[in-house]
Amino acid sequence: MKTLLLKDNEQDILKAAEILKNGGLVGMPTETVYGLGANALNPQAVAKIFKAKGRPMDNPLIVHISCFEDIEKFNLVSEIPDKAKILAENFWPGPITVILKKGSLVPDEVSAGLDTVAIRYPNHKTANKLIKMAELPIAAPSANLSGSPSPTTAQHVINDLNGRIDAVIDGGICDVGLESTVITLAQDPPKLLRPGGITLEMLESVIGKVLVDNAVLNKLEDNAKPASPGMKYKHYSPKANVIILKANDEDFVDFINCNKSEEIAAICYDEDTAKLNVKKYSLGKKEDLEKHAHNLFEILREIDLNKTIKTVYSRCPETKGVGMAVYNRLIRAAGFEVKNLEKS
Ligand code: TXA
Ligand code: MG
Repeated sequence: MKTLLLKDNEQDILKAAEILKNGGLVGMPTETVYGLGANALNPQAVAKIFKAKGRPMDNPLIVHISCFEDIEKFNLVSEIPDKAKILAENFWPGPITVILKKGSLVPDEVSAGLDTVAIRYPNHKTANKLIKMAELPIAAPSANLSGSPSPTTAQHVINDLNGRIDAVIDGGICDVGLESTVITLAQDPPKLLRPGGITLEMLESVIGKVLVDNAVLNKLEDNAKPASPGMKYKHYSPKANVIILKANDEDFVDFINCNKSEEIAAICYDEDTAKLNVKKYSLGKKEDLEKHAHNLFEILREIDLNKTIKTVYSRCPETKGVGMAVYNRLIRAAGFEVKNLEKS
């Protein structure tokens, strides 16, 4: 199959909408990461997503809509709890996915057999236009091969999926850079399943107590069943061995410099770069957590392009605000390997 590279204009978005209506796959920009879209109501189209990505069939997909009313229009859920309305009023369109009890029209392929469905109303004009023009709810996971970092540019999508999907729309670099926050309202109190751009603090400020799933910050036992199936897979992992270094500013730099070698690199902050003697990739200024989120996946992909790097030592993000999302992704890239230099 030849993958069309489409532009972010009316005519090309219309072309993409036609592909979706005909059961094809389209890579689409969103404010978080690029998604790989298909008609969420067509089981055959949805099955193609799993095949193109090499995604395990037990990992459910997010259904994307272009207005709140789409939820009822397409019968996506069986009930809309008040807290869902509050989240929608405060954060939609935006980088948050809400899990609700599934409606009867959602195919089992989308929900991977669960009785719930994940819904997201993205805040990206191209994604919204595409969904509107297709007149369909769009099932879309991140548009990467399963196991590699989520794509934040159309080129990343091409690198992973060229020849496996019908088209990708080039809408430039994604703003947030990390996937959406996932919260389930299928239980009360609600539970955060995946941290993202809408932080735990922001959620609790509008709906009160939110539990945090154990898999967000910790490694699951080998046969534990996570609330969000995606959490059990080793994700976002570059070929080099990533190790998180829990250390103060000085010890972080000293530890790396005394291990100096061509094969070692650092994921650091702007403040560290001049002091480090190895190849370095900066997440941004130490305090700029949004920037860290924006840069992380790009850095992981860049590291993958460098064949000499064998070990990458990374700063340990704080787990407050958007930092929780950065930590959640980085700890998976590191296969949960943390070296603690703070222990006395
Ligand atoms: O920002 C995003 O969310 C991007 C863009 C494209 O919208 N999408 C994305 O999709 O990251 P994906 O498939 O890579 O991640 C969806 C996560 C997975 O961890 C999956 O297990 C979880 O959401 N999920 C989906 N439906 C679920 C459900 N019904 N119950 C629990 N977890 C669910
Ligand atoms: Mg993904």
